[in-house]
Amino acid sequence: MQIDRRALFATLGTAADRNAMPSEALADALEHHMIESLDAEGTKDELKVRLGTGVLFGGPLPDAPTELKKLEPMPEKPTLVDFFKYRFAPPTVRHVLQSATDAMKKGEREELILACLLHDVVLNLIKVDHGWWGAQMMEPYVSEKISWGIRYHQALRFYPDPSVGYEYPELYNKIFGKDYVPPPYIKQAYEYARNHKSYMDARMITVHDIYAFDPTMKVSIDPFIDIIGRHFKQPKEGLGYDNSPVAHMWRTLIFPDTPL
Ligand SMILES: [Fe+2]
Ligand SMILES: [Fe+2]
Repeated sequence: MQIDRRALFATLGTAADRNAMPSEALADALEHHMIESLDAEGTKDELKVRLGTGVLFGGPLPDAPTELKKLEPMPEKPTLVDFFKYRFAPPTVRHVLQSATDAMKKGEREELILACLLHDVVLNLIKVDHGWWGAQMMEPYVSEKISWGIRYHQALRFYPDPSVGYEYPELYNKIFGKDYVPPPYIKQAYEYARNHKSYMDARMITVHDIYAFDPTMKVSIDPFIDIIGRHFKQPKEGLGYDNSPVAHMWRTLIFPDTPL
């Protein structure tokens, strides 16, 4: 794909700033820029896969679909953290870690911090209607507050709520166009969630759902290990092998190359 150097550099500060950046940070910035550009315009025509395809399956990412990375084998009884380590693509991991870090810094409840950490990881499996897919994938392992929040954050992203300082994301103007009107089912989901007692469980995910890009910000799964331990019911057989109604979703991520 073509890189718009001026647009990229504009996100990186002065030449001196760029020279001072470690090459890893620069590479991250480049990758981030390419993802945003892919979301934003024209390049959609060049894609060889549907836009709703999960990232792990060659969905819109800079090195997909021709250079799919060789995947590490998963442990026999994979944990949630193993999926972060071996399957979830770095840009998706960075995004949810940034969200969860923001929630943690602002002193949110542990369940909300975990909801932020999990809210978009399903994008590795499938992108379209990721709120619903994501909620379902987590449902057997988390409290209802968490899965409910994940389900409705997708619709709520389109509707501002000044009472908590949530504005319509600028990125959505780029992805969907300035005059975009969400389809009726999204509007219905929003209205349902807006009037539900758990509204804030979903709304606060959107508040911490930041696309801010700070190349100096180091994020890690480590601060969240204890919260995962307390609020994510890790099945002893391993995710994918516990016969839950969604075990196949996790197995699909473990074995994305299986043809049938
Ligand atoms: Fe999302
Ligand atoms: Fe998100």
